[in-house]
This record gives sequence, C-alpha cells and structure tokens, in this order.
Amino acid sequence: MCGIVGYVGPGNTVDVLLAGLRRLEYRGYDSAGVAVVSDDGSLGVRKRAGKLDNLIASLDDAPLAAGATGIGHTRWATHGGPTDTNAHPHLGDDGKLAVIHNGIIENFAQLKQQLTDEGFTFVSETDTEVAAVLLGREYRRTGDLFEAFVATVAQLEGAFTLLAVHQDQPGTVIGARRNSPLVIGRGTGENFLASDVAAFVEHTTHAYSIGQDQIAVITAESITVTDFTGNPVEPEPFEVEWDASAAEKGGWKSFMAKEIAEEPTAVANTLLGRISDGQVVLDGLDAIDDDVLAKISRIIVVACGTASYAGQTAAYAIQRWTNVPVSIELSHEFRYRDPVLDDSVLVIAISQSGETMDTLMAIRWAREQGARVLAICNTQGATIARESDGVVYTYAGPEVAVASTKAFVAQVAALYLFGLHLARVRGTLGADEIAGVTAELTGLEAAVQEAVEASASIPNLAHWMADTRSVLFLGRNVAYPIALEGALKLKELAYIHAEGFAAGELKHGPIALIEPGLPVFVVVPSPREAPLLHAKVISNIQEIRARGARVLVVAEKGDTAVLPFADEVISLPLVSPLMQPFVAVVPLQVFAMELAEAKGLDVDQPRNLAKSVTVE
Ligand code: M6R
Repeated sequence: MCGIVGYVGPGNTVDVLLAGLRRLEYRGYDSAGVAVVSDDGSLGVRKRAGKLDNLIASLDDAPLAAGATGIGHTRWATHGGPTDTNAHPHLGDDGKLAVIHNGIIENFAQLKQQLTDEGFTFVSETDTEVAAVLLGREYRRTGDLFEAFVATVAQLEGAFTLLAVHQDQPGTVIGARRNSPLVIGRGTGENFLASDVAAFVEHTTHAYSIGQDQIAVITAESITVTDFTGNPVEPEPFEVEWDASAAEKGGWKSFMAKEIAEEPTAVANTLLGRISDGQVVLDGLDAIDDDVLAKISRIIVVACGTASYAGQTAAYAIQRWTNVPVSIELSHEFRYRDPVLDDSVLVIAISQSGETMDTLMAIRWAREQGARVLAICNTQGATIARESDGVVYTYAGPEVAVASTKAFVAQVAALYLFGLHLARVRGTLGADEIAGVTAELTGLEAAVQEAVEASASIPNLAHWMADTRSVLFLGRNVAYPIALEGALKLKELAYIHAEGFAAGELKHGPIALIEPGLPVFVVVPSPREAPLLHAKVISNIQEIRARGARVLVVAEKGDTAVLPFADEVISLPLVSPLMQPFVAVVPLQVFAMELAEAKGLDVDQPRNLAKSVTVE
C-alpha cells in the first residue's frame, strides 16, 4: 500500500518521479504528490487527491522549479481521508524538508501529543506528518540530515518506509525501512529508492534489497546503507529479471486484459527448467531439504485473497499425492487462533507481492513457534521470500492490475511442482506417476491458451448482465476454490454482491438465495474423468434451475449432458480433474473484467483497493 519513489540524478526529476509513480500507482491511488529540491536550494511540493492524472494536470498548469533531487508518493489512505492536505509529501514545521511514507506509525498519537505539547502544529490527520515534524525537530538539534533521520526512526514504532529530502542538503535522498518494502536502483550517475523495482526498471536493472531496520542514503554517485544506529551494512545486490516493457500496457485495453492473455506464459515460465526427464527439479528450497520434508507431519498454507484460493486449489493435489494433511488459513486469522505448531509443521506462505503484511506477520510468528516456512512468491527478493526457510518463485512477470490473474495460475503451478517434489521425497508417488503428472503440467500452456481464446464470447454475456445485483458461483472439489475466486473477482472489479459456494453446500442454506433470474455460474467436473462428481453437480444444477436461476455452465467441451440444464455454456479444454482449475478460472476472470467494463469501471484500479497490502 502506497508507492514510494526517490531520485537523484541529471534526468528531469519530476518526469522520472511521475513515471515511477505511474508504475507504482497499483499500490494505491487515493492521492499522489512529489517534492523536488530545486537547483537554487528551495523545496517545491505539489500534491493532489485522486489519481496520478490530477497531480500531472496540476504540474502541467504550474510546473515546479527544476532540481536533481526528489521524492514521489502515491497513497492508499490509512490515517485521514484522501484529501489534498492528507496527501504526501508532508513538510516539517519550517517547510524545509519533505517526507513520504508507506505503512502505519503505531505510536503516532503519543508522538503527536508530545510534539503538540512542545508547541508544534499539524495541518493533516496523517501519522506521516508526525514523522516529518519530528525529523524537522531533530534536524534543528543535530544540524545533519542523516543524524536527524537516525534519531527520528529510533522514536517510531510500527511499519514504515520513509523517504526524506531537505532543501539544505540538495543531492541526497534518505530512506528507512521497517516492515514495509524499499529497494535501491543503481544507475549510471543517478540512483533511485522505491517501494519496488517497477518504479525504476526503465532506467536500470541493477538493484539492492534493503533489509529490515536499515537506512539508505543515495546521491547521484553513491549509495550507503546502515542499520538504524548508523553502522554500515552491505546491501544485497540483485538483477531485475524483467524489463520495462513487461510492466507496460503495450496496446492492451487494460493491464488486466494483458495479464489474462499472459496466463499461458506465466504457467509455462513457472514450470520452465523445473521438469527434467519427467521429474521435478526445484532449487531455492534451501533449509527445507529432503530430511526435513521426510519428517513433516502436516502442511498449513497461509495466504490472503486470491493467493489463499491458489493454496486451497493446490491442497487437493498435494494431499492426494503425498498423504500429508494440508489445511488453509487466512494469514490474518492464523496466529490469533493459537494453532499448534512445531518443527514438524511446514507452513507454505503464498504471496504474489511477497510484501503482504498479514502473511509476513503469520510467517514470523510460525517460525518463532519452530515451524519451517516455504514461500511461494512472484517478486524476487521480497520480504516474505527473504524471511522464509525456502522459496519457490513463480515466474508470472510483473502483475500490475490490482485483481490477481496470472499470478494465481502460476501459484497453483508452483504448488503442484512442490507437491510432486514432496511426493518423490516421501515415496508416495513413483517416478512413472510423477512423469504422468508433469506431462499434464507441460500441456497446460496450450490448454490455458485455449481457455483464453474460448473466453472471447464472454463480453456479450457480461453486457447483458451489467444491471445484475448479485451473482453466485458454485463448484465442487477443486472447482470449489475456483468458485470462490470467481466471486472475489466480481466483487472487487464490478462492485456487485457475489458469493462462491461448494455446490453440495447449497441445500444446507444458501439455496434460499435463489430467485428467478439470479445468475449462477456452475463449474462442472469432467464427465469422462469424474463421472460421480459430474452427476452430483448436474443434480445441483437442476435444484437451482427448478427455482428459476439463470445457469451459466462452465464445462469441458463435449459435455452434452449439461446442455438441457444450461442457459449458457462456456466450454473448457479437455484436461484431467486436477488440471481443471487452470482453465476454469480464466472465463470467470474474463467475465468479471468484462462486466466491470460494461459498467464503465476502472478494472485495473478498483475502488478502495491496493495491489500490495502492506498494513495489517
Ligand atoms: O500479494 P499477495 O499475493 O500476498 O496478495 C494477496 C491478496 O491481497 C490478493 O491476492 C488480492 O486478493 C487480489 N487483489 C485479488 O484479486
């Protein structure tokens, strides 16, 4: 939540910051602002409520004075509404320094009271302004930005990435990181600080991770990193493995449309190099070696939102292949209900961003209890990956649209790979059985592509449903989490009530919701491969149809048994039951996107949301 970028160099600072903010806007879009230390040593600040375009329009009307040093922020509001005043940057009391922030300063109320008692005044409702005023006070006391910054962060509690500039110290941006992401981009004669590499990848792919409780100081020519007490530390270098074009819309109507089209590649890239002679080869497991895996007694998946549905989907396969019990926990519920953990428990944390605070806190807690943690993560070097005992990266490429799509299929693919690896280690599947599944995985790229192409008819469906007030989604077995995911997509994108149910659960209560005309999507199991479940779902369809529901069936092509009971049929490619989630999720994603568009909504930046949820 909140995107942060800092720049020092010879480029047009405002342009560099705005381009960075454009790429970070998915992290929050309640307001945006920039501060530039001009070449004549003054501080210019501009900030506007609303999306980045409002800020750009304001800067077009009245540009800031040019300067080589600046910071920019795009906000997801926590403390104080999305107004111009609450927008970042915030100023110190003398107006000479500016601060931007991602996170929540938990002791801000005490600090604000203390500063108020000392005679300082505040103009905003934010916790960030407290940090700015504090930094101004410390700067006057020490006369040095670095010392003042060290003294300031020492007084802050909670989660924060802070960046600051001071007009008396042009050419320097200083940043601190505790529990919220911050990376450095090393250019030639220019350097960057940002919440994620997307902000600077068009300028450089050379990056450094900044660890927990560290401070980074950049000038155009230098990068210095210390701990919170000022002792030097070596930042960890890494290369960004994708280029700027991967995070561009590239002619697509939306990032979401582009990312759905990239799903076949996301799956293929996640499998790439990890299947050899039909067997799974995984690196990155590190401390989660074969000895550890041989002894685990159960697996607990912790994740939120779409990532949790990826875990729920893969749990069927992992449990079947390994005989290891797998349970799913929402990260934010997990540690507050006293789960019993020890070193025989493997916690799998799934996160596209690798920065979701709820999941990060869950894995910290799990490790404290002695559990081993494996991360499934899409963002190289992200905090969750770094703080886990091992990591299986997904290679979906940057996912910019707030609604997760390609990351989901990549997560399920990575989890399947891990499940097969575990099955080999524990001897629950033979090499031939594993080879059979990896052959199916290898065929997924083509199958998902077929699903994407088959979704071309969905816009019409979405158009006639634009006035619908509620939609239900039903699935059984592996299609149950797909139903939940279909409902989540529709809620977050089209702002209409949607719920996913296990089809068998309907008769235990939710069937009372069915009324004439209510659209209900039903994901139907394969009649070839799962005839028993298929028959049961057909019965479920008849039950809702008898009560007037409008039934939209998602079924494999050639399933003629569903035709008499379907108002609409969306055909899926032929795959085995455990592979069905990869193809069944696609039309539901497309439907949510098209319905949102039919309602004139912004599918890439739905209201109230942010891509990366870095507050608890
Ligand atoms: O970055 P993460 O995978 O940890 O994010 C988890 C959820 O916040 C995320 O999947 C969210 O549910 C998506 N916006 C859903 O489309």
